[in-house]
Amino acid sequence: MRYAIEVDHVTRVFGGKGDKVHAKALDDISLQVDEGELFGLLGPNGAGKTTLIKILATLLLPSEGSVRVLGHDVVKEYNKIRARINMVSGGEISGYGLLTVRENLWMFSQFYGIPPKVARQRMDDLLERFGLLDKADAKVRTISTGQKQKMNVIRGFVTDPDLIYLDEPTLGLDVNASLAIRSFLRKWVKDTPGKTMLLTTHYMVEADELCDRVAIIDQGRILACDSPSNLKRMLKRATTFDIETTAFPGLDSMPSMDGLQGYNSKSVGDRALTRFVVNDEAVISEIISHISSKGGRIIALGKSEATLEDVFIHLVGRGLE
Ligand SMILES: Nc1ncnc2c1ncn2[C@@H]1O[C@H](COP(=O)(O)OP(=O)(O)O)[C@@H](O)[C@H]1O
Ligand SMILES: [Mg+2]
Repeated sequence: MRYAIEVDHVTRVFGGKGDKVHAKALDDISLQVDEGELFGLLGPNGAGKTTLIKILATLLLPSEGSVRVLGHDVVKEYNKIRARINMVSGGEISGYGLLTVRENLWMFSQFYGIPPKVARQRMDDLLERFGLLDKADAKVRTISTGQKQKMNVIRGFVTDPDLIYLDEPTLGLDVNASLAIRSFLRKWVKDTPGKTMLLTTHYMVEADELCDRVAIIDQGRILACDSPSNLKRMLKRATTFDIETTAFPGLDSMPSMDGLQGYNSKSVGDRALTRFVVNDEAVISEIISHISSKGGRIIALGKSEATLEDVFIHLVGRGLE
């Protein structure tokens, strides 16, 4: 298996050591992305995601370390890389408002030297897939944010790249536009084996739903890198049960029991909601009999699964948003 991306001990610093502005945006990052993979960088604002994408897109140089993209070195062989990659950024104004959607797409396709007939065909095909054909001749300044972002995404794919970077592709979009973009991305990777996608996001769901593998990044470092399901398993989190009961005396002084790791109770009116973290699910029956022996009545009991957010909280020590 060939790697589409190989990042080897990359550090990126902004500003010299003596400068007032001195930020280590990336701190000794190493990762490999397989050809054909949909790889995600998940991290909060300022984690270094955009900096890494810019380096991978040959727009920014690493301060230290080496990077190969599609088998070529980003510093020495950037000209072999550029025609084969493309990049889409979310949450920024791009495209020219006075031009129509079609004119914008046409212009970018011509920057890449796509033969006119091929470009037209691809544009129509993509506009149709995004339900944007009826806006094709509208000036970009007149269309909605969601439609603009769809156009941006189309712009990224109109060059038929072997590797595409999407930097927060659904940032700030409504649910429907986000869904349309995500389902397009998923389908593209599935339908075009060998083509690779790297996306950054600070939306858990996006990383969880779309990505084959996710690197969790914070303060310029990779804290973990694996498939979403392995990341969740890695947490080896004891199971969590939420039990709603009528209020009863002694709720916040449960006796110690084998398999009960901890609990946290809060009362809501005449009821109590308690979250029990257990190592061994068998202890639940003991908990329930204790509650009834104290005169409490169970109203609801639910088990919750670990989410990617829990993994993130576990690794970073705080939530994402
Ligand atoms: N051009 C720049 N000059 C100085 N600092 C920068 C520059 N670009 C990014 N940074 C800093 O690098 C860090 C990572 O930024 P960025 O890569 O944009 O993070 P993300 O995309 O994950 O939000 C931040 O602390 C940011 O302030
Ligand atoms: Mg960013």
